[in-house]
Amino acid sequence: MSEEPRDSTTPTVRTADTVRALLPEIMDIGDTDLRDAVTRIWARAWRSSVWTDLASVPKSPELPARRTLVTHTRAVTRIAGHLVDVESELHGVPVDRDQTLAIALLHDVSKVREFEPSGDGTGGARFSRTGRLYQHGFLGGHWMAEEGLSEGLVHGVLAHTPQSAVVPQTQEAVIVHYADFADSDVQLLDAGLTLFCKRRTR
Ligand SMILES: [Fe+2]
Repeated sequence: MSEEPRDSTTPTVRTADTVRALLPEIMDIGDTDLRDAVTRIWARAWRSSVWTDLASVPKSPELPARRTLVTHTRAVTRIAGHLVDVESELHGVPVDRDQTLAIALLHDVSKVREFEPSGDGTGGARFSRTGRLYQHGFLGGHWMAEEGLSEGLVHGVLAHTPQSAVVPQTQEAVIVHYADFADSDVQLLDAGLTLFCKRRTR
């Protein structure tokens, strides 16, 4: 798989280099083809969106601005990596580390298109038409399939959300599901909002 030409890492320049600078956990993926595919999918999502600054995309329209999608993605990826280590070391459960990291890095990439700036001068965000028409995660899975990534990887992204009709069926998908819940509920509790573990869907 080919890399994009090198370019500036200015936060608003929509290149693979900028994506890697904002999401350094991408470099923790050992498989270079998978690493490059994850980077390309993020760059594609960004280029197809209305967001000038990728770092300003929120984790959720309901959360205060400092809880960004980039920070959440980094946190979920790191938590998932630790879970892989613990489950492998203490229980001897075979879990593919690269696949887990890739699912974690891509689990919410569709939010780049599902949200848009609210345009009301508050700096907030709202659901876009895409976000209202498509189930959360669908676009991420679509982009992954178009990149030729495996059904197991696509499944991990589709199954991470309770909106999905399928529950996680691989160890990698289970780990990302709970890593996502952990970081999300820490942020929601901190913001005084209802935890995902108390909701039916999100
Ligand atoms: Fe998430």
